[in-house]
Amino acid sequence: MAESTLRGRRIVVGVTGGIAAYKACDLVSTLVKAEADVQVVMTENARRFVGEITFAALTGNPVSCDLWAPRADVHHVALADFADVVIIAPATANIIGKYANGIADDLLSTALLTFTCPVIIAPAMNSRMLASAAVQANLEALAERGARIVEPEEGWLACGEVGAGRLPDTGVLVAAIEEALRSRGGPLSGLRVLVTAGPTREPIDPVRFISNPSSGRMGYAVAAEAERRGASVTLVSGPVSLEPPLGVEVVAVTSAAEMHEAVEAYAGEVDLFVGAAAVADWRPAEASGEKLSKDGRDEMTVRMVRTPDVIASVARWEPRPVIVGFAAETRDVVANAAEKLRRKGMDLIVANDVGQPGAGFGGETNKVTLVDVIGRETDLPLMSKAAVAAALLDRAGELIASRESQ
Ligand code: CTP
Repeated sequence: MAESTLRGRRIVVGVTGGIAAYKACDLVSTLVKAEADVQVVMTENARRFVGEITFAALTGNPVSCDLWAPRADVHHVALADFADVVIIAPATANIIGKYANGIADDLLSTALLTFTCPVIIAPAMNSRMLASAAVQANLEALAERGARIVEPEEGWLACGEVGAGRLPDTGVLVAAIEEALRSRGGPLSGLRVLVTAGPTREPIDPVRFISNPSSGRMGYAVAAEAERRGASVTLVSGPVSLEPPLGVEVVAVTSAAEMHEAVEAYAGEVDLFVGAAAVADWRPAEASGEKLSKDGRDEMTVRMVRTPDVIASVARWEPRPVIVGFAAETRDVVANAAEKLRRKGMDLIVANDVGQPGAGFGGETNKVTLVDVIGRETDLPLMSKAAVAAALLDRAGELIASRESQ
């Protein structure tokens, strides 16, 4: 889970001047290993404990310390544009006090006032400082405003005392970051979405297969948009050459039978199923274990049998998710799609007029009509696959909401 949640995420780590600053090195190194893009902002006092070169080497990014360093952009605003999530670890009483009271007198405290993404505070200090009325009131004020506070741990403190105030281990801090990334809210927050994408390959022999030109772009756009809207998303994907969308769990499959099996593993566990894969309808009845040779023949016959219908089997799940399918049509687009919707037990079908320029397989755009189970038809103009994904999820979200209100 850690990898898919953190990969490609942009994380600002604020390091302030406490002895636990050395632990921030391990945190940053762990985030970088999980393929996050990390920018470290240090306070002047943090530099007394750890050198900025350490963080620059770990992240591969320059380390920011100075509000006044000359640069082309406005640095604290650029940090806010960059960040998906911010963590201050360790957070001293000083930065907590400044953040709680809106004091902006260095780069980190100034940037803190510009962030709109989740901010995590991991306090670390002497236990009496932590227990002081001022620090407790500041932490409470920050929590009320939506900051996430990581509870300091009890134990041996650098001052020689034993008590609460230790910075928790990297694992706890990473879990707080993952949680913040997952629960950013959004209209599909808390919902589980399963998407199929791409073509399937049906083997004839070890070096040949029957397939189709699906690029997977439509399904990948749906998965990415559902994740952006706060859903927890799994993408079962046939062979494509696309980057996995950020924060999405990807299950790679090859044949229709494998796609069916991978999807069935989620039976009863999802709220929305979107079947965007171009699943092969037929497969060779027997796949030869050895490469088939021409052997001087002029003809070859391959007997084909049906593959499992993934979407129709999802329609038999209990509880049954809201089901969205696609139909590639060349004529009577809406009538054929509506018939397919009824036959396969879908709630919404995206009818693709593949005869039109700019629509269908492979390209960046699509021209579709949405037809839903209560007969509503929405003809959408030629648009990007990302925009089609957004329109599809708007409608699917309505269907989920109307089902919940029944
Ligand atoms: N689908 C599936 N499993 C299959 C075949 C299709 O889940 N074995 C899904 C596709 O992901 C898509 C929808 O069903 O959402 C397409 O339905 P289908 O009946 O295959 O439509 P067409 O490809 O248009 O096929 P035809 O008109 O030949 O029936």
